[in-house]
Formats: sequence, structure tokens, C-alpha cells
Amino acid sequence: MNFDRLAPYYNGLECLLAGGLMQRCRTTFLPETKNCRNALLVGEGTGKFLVELLRFNPHLKITCVEHSEKMIRQARQRLARARLDSSQLHFKHMDALDWTPTTEKFDLVATHFFLDCFRAGQLEKLVPLLAKSTAPGAIWLLADFQMPGRGLRRIRARMIIAALYLFFRFSTSLPASRLTPPDNFLRAAGFVLLDRRLKSLGLVHSDIWQKSDRAHRRPVGNPIRDKRGFQRPAKRSFRGPHRCSASHSCHPSAGRGGNRILRRSGLLAVWPAVQNGRTDAYDMKSSETSKNPEA
Ligand SMILES: C[S@@+](CC[C@H](N)C(=O)[O-])C[C@H]1O[C@@H](n2cnc3c(N)ncnc32)[C@H](O)[C@@H]1O
Repeated sequence: MNFDRLAPYYNGLECLLAGGLMQRCRTTFLPETKNCRNALLVGEGTGKFLVELLRFNPHLKITCVEHSEKMIRQARQRLARARLDSSQLHFKHMDALDWTPTTEKFDLVATHFFLDCFRAGQLEKLVPLLAKSTAPGAIWLLADFQMPGRGLRRIRARMIIAALYLFFRFSTSLPASRLTPPDNFLRAAGFVLLDRRLKSLGLVHSDIWQKSDRAHRRPVGNPIRDKRGFQRPAKRSFRGPHRCSASHSCHPSAGRGGNRILRRSGLLAVWPAVQNGRTDAYDMKSSETSKNPEA
């Protein structure tokens, strides 16, 4: 894979085809990085997220892993234009698949529009590799394309995603030829999904995941059915380690309502079955049905 050829045109193409959508996705959870001190950005590209991150959190130490020299050059130019202090920023020009877990632990990882470049077998290696360099409670931000559950949205997304893969395979020799959701790999690496926002009719999602130390982790949401019989997560069901403000929808104190319903309805008895295997379909479906995709 080589993004060098595409690097000079990447921002122009993004603007032309998606307007501000991708940048809105990258920065959705930016406020949640306010307590972070040491960040690892992987496949950062032309530095659009990097600049906003540094602007928001100027004291952050940042390591940027990027395979394309020309992308790094673009990112450096963007930083210079923004006149931000980059003394705490280090670019590593390397293949992320060759990353060796460091003794240095990161409390923030960001992989925007990056994980969807890889095949499942590569993600199986890459995600735990990066996760090994994270501190307990670390946050992982990502934005990626996804396939909505059903209907016209799914047909639309299928066409757009197929066209994107065709284009990137041709222009960069992208290894992946189809989308692999990273959810299972992140969960297996000890991360839990705190929040997911869908945009553009469910075509793209922005996620915030957090490293949990608990041996048995629950998927996000509780299997409560709405009036029409769809499973939907209880709002704010997450109760793991956390840093968000109390008003934030995923604050631990906010999860009690849903869990009380779960206890009373006896659904806790079937919870292990939900954990053993069906969680992914459930997660994707529930996030589709529970959140209003933003235009
Ligand atoms: C689709 S672009 C996304 C760029 C940027 N993160 C964004 O939000 O637009 C993928 C980026 O990942 C980089 N990349 C691809 N494979 C990589 C690898 N194995 N190791 C490091 N960087 C890689 C590419 O050079 C490119 O900059």
C-alpha cells in the first residue's frame, strides 16, 4: 500500500466528495481528549485531526505513525501553517504492522479512516499490537465507513463503499477489498465501546472506545426491546472506568436505569449468551436503531 501518489490530492478529493463530513467524524469526540497526555495517531494522513488535537490540547505529547512520506510532509506543512508548537510531536515513518509494543504507554489512540484499509487477518495482528502500548483506561478514537443495517441506506452505502475500495485499490494498492468492522478486534484487545455516532445516513461512524481492565466485559447497550420488538441498548449503560463529565451520555452514574430494567426483567440470566457470540450483530444493529444518523 502506498499513499504517496494520492497525498497531494487527498484533501482536495475529500473536500470535493465529502465536504466537511470526514472532519466532523474525526473531531466528534475531541472534547474527550482533554485529560490525555500521551497520544498515538496511526495512519494520520495529511494531519487534519492532528492539528485540531494539538489546538485543543497543546501540551499533549504525540507520536504519529505514518507509512507515506508525502502524507507526513503534508501534515508538517499543515502544522506550520497553523503555527502550533510541535516540539512534543514525533513522526515515525513506518508501517504500522511493524509496530513493536513500547514501554511507553499511550492514553489516547486515534485511527481515523485507517482500520478500514486492512483485511481481517491484518486487523487481527494490528489492533492488539497497538493495544499493547496503551495504558489502562486509554481512549481509542476512530472514524470509519460502515454498512447500515438495511433498506435504501444500505444500498446507497454499498455502492459508495464499493466505489471507494475500487478507487483506493487502484490508486494505492490497498490490501483490503471490503470493509471489516474492527469491533471484534478492539473488544478482544480489551476495549469497550463507550459511544458511537452515525453520520451521513449511517455511512460513517465515529467511535470512542476505552480500555477496560475487567476480565469479563459487556458489550455496549442492554438487550431491551422497544415497542416494535427491536433490540435497543439502554441509554448510557456503560459502567467501566471513565473520565467523561457527569452530563455526558456515557457517564457511569448514568447507566443505572437500564441496568435496573435488565435486572427486573430477568434478562441478566441470558446475558452470558449475548456475550458469547451474538454481540456483534447486536451492537451493529442496536447502534443503527438507537441513534439518529446525522445528515
Ligand atoms: C485512508 S487514509 C486516512 C488518512 C487520515 N487518517 C484521514 O482521516 O483521512 C489512510 C492513511 O493511513 C496510512 N497508512 C496506510 N497503511 C499504513 C500502514 N501500514 N502503516 C502506517 N500508515 C499507513 C496511509 O499512508 C494514509 O495516510
